[in-house]
Amino acid sequence: MLSEKTVKIVKSTVPVLEEYGTTITSTFYKRMFQNHPELLNYFNHVNQRRGTQPTALANTVIAAGKHIDELEIILPAVKQIAHKHRALSIRPEHYPIVGENLLAAIKEVLGEAATDEILQAWAEAYEEIANVFIQVEGEMYREASLQKGGWTDFKAFTVIDKIKESEVITSFYLKPTDGASIPTYLPGQYITVRLSIPDEKFKHNRHYSLSCAPGNDYFRISVKRENECEPLGVVSNYLHDHVHVGDQLEISAPAGDFVLNTEETEPVAFISGGVGITPLLSMFEKLVKDNSEREITFIQAAKNENVQAFGDYVKELAKKLNKAKVYTVLEQKNLEETDCDHIGYIDLSFLQKVVSKNTICYLCGPVPFMKAVVQILNQMGLPEHHIRYEFFGPKVDFIQ
Ligand code: HEM
Repeated sequence: MLSEKTVKIVKSTVPVLEEYGTTITSTFYKRMFQNHPELLNYFNHVNQRRGTQPTALANTVIAAGKHIDELEIILPAVKQIAHKHRALSIRPEHYPIVGENLLAAIKEVLGEAATDEILQAWAEAYEEIANVFIQVEGEMYREASLQKGGWTDFKAFTVIDKIKESEVITSFYLKPTDGASIPTYLPGQYITVRLSIPDEKFKHNRHYSLSCAPGNDYFRISVKRENECEPLGVVSNYLHDHVHVGDQLEISAPAGDFVLNTEETEPVAFISGGVGITPLLSMFEKLVKDNSEREITFIQAAKNENVQAFGDYVKELAKKLNKAKVYTVLEQKNLEETDCDHIGYIDLSFLQKVVSKNTICYLCGPVPFMKAVVQILNQMGLPEHHIRYEFFGPKVDFIQ
């Protein structure tokens, strides 16, 4: 329990942290990786270079400081981050390392303005915040270990099949190398692949949504080759080029809270852009397995038919249900005969035709795609809690 004085100091220094937040966390990362290079086995090197992870951490620290005497307010955000931490095998013993280097960074950036009193107050506040994370994560580790076939940390899986789904997307089917069963998971969850790339000093971790419903004796991920963004998809492209049937991958147990609510009965729409189809396909497959009576709309957007994955499969699945409709949206068609319901981007008039106002929408795709679709759904007057989405990459702006 923090003293009133500490709470006051922490809250009153939040504006300063807001001003210098990103510089503090960038300094913090530099220090921490100098002192503890082994932690580079956990962090996404690309996010570090892009600066997205330092911003995410800065936002969270500041948000926590603002609410230091009512930390339950940030609990939903903590849970979301904790899923990622658990998937990456972040442990209680890592927290003091972060705390120590964060405080040293505050001192370095703020100079004399960071008095001993202020540093002491933030040290206590950090411990309080860290304890919330450690507790939430402890519960998640416990759950993962208690599940049938469950495990914590990373475990070897063998690639039992590798299937090209489109010009850029390839699926990997994975089974535990030790022959154990795999745990069940919630449709929409992801697994984390930890990869050692020859000649690279540190390991790489990437989260990939499971692209099939629970209930199989394998996991499936469907990975997009990244040739457009810089730096190129280090892990994704390595999987495409160098990981084959019979190879082994280190995997952590399913995690994530962007999941289908199977209790709800309202109409549901899945709106996918590109490889963002993966978690939504898992959700749709689940509804098909359950013989769902819900009104279901699946909208699949892709650049063109060559890069579109699972197009025919989604249509086949829809035929198994009474009330499922599928729409294909292509930015452009390469062949005249391609079956497509809308050409160009998803827009208001198109969505108004296919999605009713009482629909619950699950969205996944590139950030500009999701921003555009969320804006349209807002314009249509859908309630906020009916618009659910998953960003790939760090959630930069999720805590206000
Ligand atoms: C990711 C906050 C402690 C390692 C994140 C993210 C946030 C965050 C906001 C981004 C989540 C997202 O991608 O959606 C915090 C806070 C901490 C804390 C507030 C302390 C109270 C730690 C510790 C470690 C750690 C102790 C391990 C040394 C990571 C890693 C990621 C991550 C590896 C994934 C980011 C990437 O790979 O780029 N954390 N974190 N965090 N955190 Fe933490």
